[in-house]
Amino acid sequence: MEYSCKDFKVGKCEGEKVVDGESMPLVLHPQEPNKSDLESLLLALKTNKDWFEQMIIKNSAVLLRGFDVKNAQDFNEIVEAFGWDDIRYVGPAPRTHVYKRVWTANEGPLSEFIYYHHEMVLISEYPKKVILFCEVPPPEGGQTPFVPSFKITERMLEEFPEAVEEMDSKGLKYSFTALSKNDTASMRGRGWEDAFGTSDRAEAEKRCKALGMDLEWQPDGSVKTVLGPRALTKVFDGRKGRRMWFNTVVGMHGKEISSACMADGTEIPENVVKRCEEIIEDESIQFKWEKGDVLFLDNLAVLHGRRPSMPPRKVLVATCK
Ligand SMILES: [Fe+2]
Repeated sequence: MEYSCKDFKVGKCEGEKVVDGESMPLVLHPQEPNKSDLESLLLALKTNKDWFEQMIIKNSAVLLRGFDVKNAQDFNEIVEAFGWDDIRYVGPAPRTHVYKRVWTANEGPLSEFIYYHHEMVLISEYPKKVILFCEVPPPEGGQTPFVPSFKITERMLEEFPEAVEEMDSKGLKYSFTALSKNDTASMRGRGWEDAFGTSDRAEAEKRCKALGMDLEWQPDGSVKTVLGPRALTKVFDGRKGRRMWFNTVVGMHGKEISSACMADGTEIPENVVKRCEEIIEDESIQFKWEKGDVLFLDNLAVLHGRRPSMPPRKVLVATCK
């Protein structure tokens, strides 16, 4: 596979890192200043579809910058240029449909940090690609940091080889409590009726079973969702045999509304979770959003989050198989 392409110019952005010899993100600019219009971009993407997809896998993140991408309609055309199938979001984040394949990203309060995660990591079918578009860049903060997942596994194995192997062989069990009704003041505020798309308990149970989850109804009308066993790490095809930290232990362990332990009930040591959190932060990559940026993440290889932000901020998302 050729690593350069005549239709794009490789650039740099503030905050990028070189990880195992690869720039993250790989920044692609228009080849010529007069090729920054949407039509030229769509043509370049269609012409180089296979190459582009290889770059997402090779570099784990690709940032299109300097193109004239104005709104959800333009962004949708970019997403559709590749022909990847859509995958519908399932999860606790409040999101709104914007246009065709385009949704708002998590609409939880901008003041909150959305912790690093692989999109839909606990669901049996998760997107391979998460594509984000910046329509309105935040004046301050509001980055979408991302983290090479395999680096987390590497470093956790260096520091806690036994704990990692124990968690990996036993598997993990998570719980998460969904409220009875939507709480729009929270980033995990979808009530179960909205989250599962039904107000019928039996139907909710059936749908959750299909997604690999069990439900335990609570006296206050909320429901505890129990998931597991789930893997700690995963190896995906075409990604150099890298062991991805494909779990959400740090995000869910020991929280008010969620928990994580080993599948046989063994607790995960607090110091392991704490240190993992530090390593994830240490390995994170962040760039400053610019208007019109389109970021492609290999959801199998990177975790992503959202830093607290000053308003306004408008980042839209599409997820693909
Ligand atoms: Fe996300």
